[in-house]
Amino acid sequence: MSTNVREIQPGQVPPFPENWHRRHLLDLESLTADELRTVFDTALAFKQATDGFRVKLPVLQGRTCANLFFEDSTRTRNSFSLAARRLGADTVEFTASGSSVKKGETVIDTARNIEAMNVHVMVVRHSTPGTPHLLAQNVGCGVINAGDGPHEHPTQGLLDILTIVEHRGSCEGLTVALVGDIAYSRTARSNIWGLKKLGAHVIVCGPSTLVSRHWRDYGVEVAYSLDQVLPRCDVLNLLRIQFERQRTRPFPSVREYALLFAMNRERMARAKPSILILAPGPINRGVEVTPDVADGPHSVILDQVTNGVAVRMAVLWLVAGACERAA
Ligand code: NCD
Repeated sequence: MSTNVREIQPGQVPPFPENWHRRHLLDLESLTADELRTVFDTALAFKQATDGFRVKLPVLQGRTCANLFFEDSTRTRNSFSLAARRLGADTVEFTASGSSVKKGETVIDTARNIEAMNVHVMVVRHSTPGTPHLLAQNVGCGVINAGDGPHEHPTQGLLDILTIVEHRGSCEGLTVALVGDIAYSRTARSNIWGLKKLGAHVIVCGPSTLVSRHWRDYGVEVAYSLDQVLPRCDVLNLLRIQFERQRTRPFPSVREYALLFAMNRERMARAKPSILILAPGPINRGVEVTPDVADGPHSVILDQVTNGVAVRMAVLWLVAGACERAA
């Protein structure tokens, strides 16, 4: 971290970072390590400045943030809403069900119409990869990707990494395994780009039908046995099997998957005593993680959710600020 966030007092607005010029946050693949650190510094500063979200910091008063969710969401949508309101912004909530998308309105027309309500930042989730990128070319406001199909979910990657950094001081030199559906999980890709840039050793681990060996070309270790890599891991990020995105079943049964890849009590006994257990949620108890591990002392799954609010406050403020500076 570059700024000393302990110096930020409740109610104090941090200075706008000089290295932030992005009007959109579309992926972590294109972010530099410095930009990643800027988001973390800002998120931690907002956590301090709002006294753990207890007080508002109305730096976006008079601005409007719109959530455009064409796919289901619990954590991401609600934490973006809460983050916007904590910053004093007004919010517009759009979900595809019950909207004019059902009457044939295109995604671009939908976004332009929402923008015409004087929206400053648009948060977009869609099942088609590249939709936020397309909208960024077709609207004048800032665009934040809240998950585009199996491609990326940058704020999830940021909150996952921030949670690791909070618990371990840094992710430099840590071995982080992403376990499960690497092929269809957008969280996987955002974690890979972010973690690699910050100096972690990344392992992708799961059934061979869901883990491409081509990740080796990007300096990522590929593993098909969790039991083999487990003793070396400092952090496990347990990813849900994205059945809704798959055309064919990637393994014979969920039970067989759980036998080989679920994090359970027996595997915990063979893990490092300091191991951190992350999961982006929703978790399927008994599939990628058993309840005793999900709710156990090594789990930081709910810390991730709390950090989601901090990261989203940071990203909304940074993107809105860059848009205003560019105007
Ligand atoms: C993830 C998503 O939607 O990609 N969830 C989330 O945003 N917290 C992961 C998932 O759905 O498995």
